[in-house]
Amino acid sequence: MRKKIVAGNWKMNKTYSEAIALVGDIVGSSYDESVQLIVIPPAFYVSEIAKISSSTNVGVGVQNLSEHDSGAFTGELSSKMIQSVGAQYALVGHSERREYFNEKNSDLALKVNQLLADDLTPIYCCGEVLEEREKGNHFNLVKSQIEEGLFHLDKDQMLKTVIAYEPVWAIGTGVTASSDQAQEMHHFIRGLVANKYGVDTADSISILYGGSCKPTNAKELFANADVDGGLIGGASLNAADFIAIANSF
Ligand code: PGA
Repeated sequence: MRKKIVAGNWKMNKTYSEAIALVGDIVGSSYDESVQLIVIPPAFYVSEIAKISSSTNVGVGVQNLSEHDSGAFTGELSSKMIQSVGAQYALVGHSERREYFNEKNSDLALKVNQLLADDLTPIYCCGEVLEEREKGNHFNLVKSQIEEGLFHLDKDQMLKTVIAYEPVWAIGTGVTASSDQAQEMHHFIRGLVANKYGVDTADSISILYGGSCKPTNAKELFANADVDGGLIGGASLNAADFIAIANSF
């Protein structure tokens, strides 16, 4: 059975005291223990948040990392640093990183390598902008994101990776992909993994949906056979909403 995961990407939100209060509310809530909860705060707070969550079922991740090992890269964070403060996960290639920071699939492949070398779990993000969907090019685009960012991995590495499908037109817009649109793309992605690595590997990998996922629509999205949870932005900034989503399986 593959893991059910609900991850909260806090993006550039919350002061330090607000972040500590939010994680305190999350770890103090009751939620389905079979779901892996992950909080992804600003990197600045990860060390403290990892201490607070260490004896709980809540994992901690970062929103980005360098593709380099160490050295003269001012402002960057390495996977070794991230691991050394107790995080276990990192987002790679969120659409905001792709769009505003010009991250390419080839850069993302290197970031994935850094994480896996340090025994951290990449949550590799993919998804199309509206224009690509309207042109009917969304499957091709997601295919190239997956192939160029992940398909250099061997099978064992692939098994340690989580994929998040986030249609860019649904992120922060209040417009969610329909349940059918989500399932269709998740099924497509799992098929790509099956073709390359075999059905057993594809069946073991968690594929999360992201984009305006809320307590009101999570149940319908998570009911799909190939949707294994969510990557939550806005609704993860409120503990009650985040927990309600986690309890939606
Ligand atoms: P949203 O963001 O839930 O606010 O749409 C999702 C994401 O960007 O991961």
